[in-house]
Amino acid sequence: MNVLIIGCGYVGSAVAKYWQQKMTLVITVTTTTPERVLELENIAEKVVVLQGSDRAALESALHGQDCVLLSIAPNRGISYADTYLKTAQTVSEILKKSSVKQIIYTSTCSVYGDKNGALVDEETPTEPRNENQKILQETEQVLLTELKDKLRVCILRLGGIYGENRELVKIYSRVAGQTRPGDGSEPSNWIHLDDIVGAVEFARHYHLQGIYNLVDDANLLNREVIARVCETHNLPQVTWDNSQPSNRNYNAKISNQKIKDAGYKLIHPQMIF
Ligand SMILES: NC(=O)c1ccc[n+]([C@@H]2O[C@H](COP(=O)([O-])OP(=O)(O)OC[C@H]3O[C@@H](n4cnc5c(N)ncnc54)[C@H](OP(=O)(O)O)[C@@H]3O)[C@@H](O)[C@H]2O)c1
Repeated sequence: MNVLIIGCGYVGSAVAKYWQQKMTLVITVTTTTPERVLELENIAEKVVVLQGSDRAALESALHGQDCVLLSIAPNRGISYADTYLKTAQTVSEILKKSSVKQIIYTSTCSVYGDKNGALVDEETPTEPRNENQKILQETEQVLLTELKDKLRVCILRLGGIYGENRELVKIYSRVAGQTRPGDGSEPSNWIHLDDIVGAVEFARHYHLQGIYNLVDDANLLNREVIARVCETHNLPQVTWDNSQPSNRNYNAKISNQKIKDAGYKLIHPQMIF
């Protein structure tokens, strides 16, 4: 099987390494950065330098592929529209007439927007709160509607990503001892990198299609996670200032029941502090 990973950053590289070690897949990956080619040649058969909006380059990279993982995130100074939307539009145009059988896209739970902390599942309407969230919602829609009936489209809506080299303590050490706006009562919704890799492979192997949330079982509030990180690593605790509005970009408790019902077993159901 030939697989193409469009966007080989933190998530894409981990999936490429896993596929290279455990599966008999022929892996091609993309980067926008020529300086990364040497490094990526260690985890893929072929490395292509391209922008997701470059139709000719993408058409050539997609030729002969069976499965595509789309896992892009904006580089510094580049807009969400130029990154997510233009890539999704270009990929969709090409995939409509290609041999690719499945695309797996790593989206985000933030598309749910502000649900006042309520439990949401994949049937809950998304409610983008800002321009970037609108772009992310539109990106999902482009893939789902343009490619409907043409190939399997699997959208994994990820919680906050942590894992090797992106540990919670690295993420939160700079807020330790500070006062944060709000009361930290929003659900935190995290997912470990190992489970992203596990779920991508599960989606590929079992030909999943449709939207699947991907978060762990921890069900902790934002303030509980930060308190546990500070406690575990002997950092000064954060205080909360309820007189200021929270700066969290979404507020919903994400259900992971659908992917579990499909048979996926979380590697890290509880968080690693
Ligand atoms: N961070 C979180 O907590 C979080 C939460 C929920 C969902 N997500 C989603 O998870 C996914 C993976 O995130 P990540 O942490 O792996 O991101 P990352 O490490 O920043 O990697 C992003 C990759 O996208 C590539 N890229 C950027 N612009 C591109 C373009 N215009 N065309 C083609 N490729 C482009 C980058 O190329 P270069 O190699 O040139 O840098 C890089 O390889 C993203 O879709 C993100 O939205 C993240």
